[in-house]
Amino acid sequence: MPEPYRTIVEPFRIHSVEPLRFLTADERAAKVRDAGYNLFDLHADDVLIDLLTDSGTGAMSRDQWAAIQHGDESYAGSPSWFTFLAAVQELFPFPHVIPTHQGRAAEKILFTAIAAPGMVVPNNTHFDTTRANVEFTGAEAVDLVIPQGRDPSADHPFKGNMDLDALDALLADRAADVPVVMVTVTNNSGGGQPVSLENLRGVRAICDRYGVPLFLDACRFAENAWFITLREPGYEGASVPDVVREMAALADGMTMSAKKDPMANIGGWLALRDDDLAERCRNLLILTEGFPTYGGLAGRDLEAIAQGLRECVDEHYLRYRIRSTAYLAEALDAADVPTVKPAGGHAVYLDARALLPHVPPLAYPGQSLAVALYEAGGIRGCEIGTVMFGLRPDGTEAPAAMDLVRLAIPRRTYTQSHVDYVIEVVTDVASRASSLPGYRIVEQPAQLRHFTARFEPLG
Ligand SMILES: Cc1ncc(COP(=O)(O)O)c(C=O)c1O
Repeated sequence: MPEPYRTIVEPFRIHSVEPLRFLTADERAAKVRDAGYNLFDLHADDVLIDLLTDSGTGAMSRDQWAAIQHGDESYAGSPSWFTFLAAVQELFPFPHVIPTHQGRAAEKILFTAIAAPGMVVPNNTHFDTTRANVEFTGAEAVDLVIPQGRDPSADHPFKGNMDLDALDALLADRAADVPVVMVTVTNNSGGGQPVSLENLRGVRAICDRYGVPLFLDACRFAENAWFITLREPGYEGASVPDVVREMAALADGMTMSAKKDPMANIGGWLALRDDDLAERCRNLLILTEGFPTYGGLAGRDLEAIAQGLRECVDEHYLRYRIRSTAYLAEALDAADVPTVKPAGGHAVYLDARALLPHVPPLAYPGQSLAVALYEAGGIRGCEIGTVMFGLRPDGTEAPAAMDLVRLAIPRRTYTQSHVDYVIEVVTDVASRASSLPGYRIVEQPAQLRHFTARFEPLG
């Protein structure tokens, strides 16, 4: 039965609050200039609404904080490990679960174990750390999302789907060089767009034909499963945990950041079926993360993740979560601000290339828009475009597929009036987008440059 009222009711009351600090526009202009126009370099107290990421920034529940008190810090075989293991396997019944301090540690271990120069790893779209960890081994990272997934304005219910023909063609040519096929659910770098079960089954069939394993980059598995229950024929009203288990059943393993859907402030894991590979991964884990029953985590973190895993598949929570992201997207749409269509699960992505046509990709329209949002209203978003993906391993630069600014919504953290303020600021900045400058990079590292590069406005 549809609800008779439209208002989004947050499925929680606020029990503990954090203050926000208000700066003037002049103060913000000075802060961002001092930060080399890199929003990662700001002091977080100088940000009013922080939409840089949904990673580790969610509000933990009363029950998660209570679970933390159950944390058992035994070095080996802690009860907290068994609580964590049971919660992970309830949704992802892989025989081997390897806890890590966050998602990229799982990626680093997996790719160190299986990738090497001359190899190629396909993904619908690699996230930045996934791409960097593949490339760090000397292997090539290839994005094979469906064509609609590269077009911000194309509407498609499962815009994160893998292009099955392109995957088939790649494997027909180079299966022996492909150690794994990855599918990112939801597709963060492509707009937080979901992947359908039908598509996952198609990927599985191709992987089986060529004898290549399939792993999920599953950070936002619950949001992906919720979209499946909303949009995939045959799954209307299906139980979210059942859909998650169906996704897991199609894969040979997963990498995971518990800082996303499980609403923990830290954590991750690698899970898989293959015994030999699991042993090699555990040996790598011990080198850098820790003993296999805690990985890079404290017992209390394992407890918070286990509780978060139970909460993030709750239907009331997911309805609120996905509706509130859509609320922001719909308001921006009504104000003619170009965004990636349809709204993603965890974020709204502004199409900076469309909004700033006078700024070419190599002058970083996404960076320009992100800086302007901070200067105007203290809103911190994240460039996902040529700054993030334009630097190739050989040091040359090319435009990314899209130039976006991601407004990622931390889970259970901001209220509707915060979001209304964001709508007002974005609409104002968009109305004067033609006056925003391009940027040039004055300093950058060889990898993952968006975190530390310094910029200067052009002109
Ligand atoms: C799709 C995806 N994969 C991997 C990661 C890496 O996870 P972590 O930040 O925990 O290292 C992220 C983080 O944002 C992500 O969105």
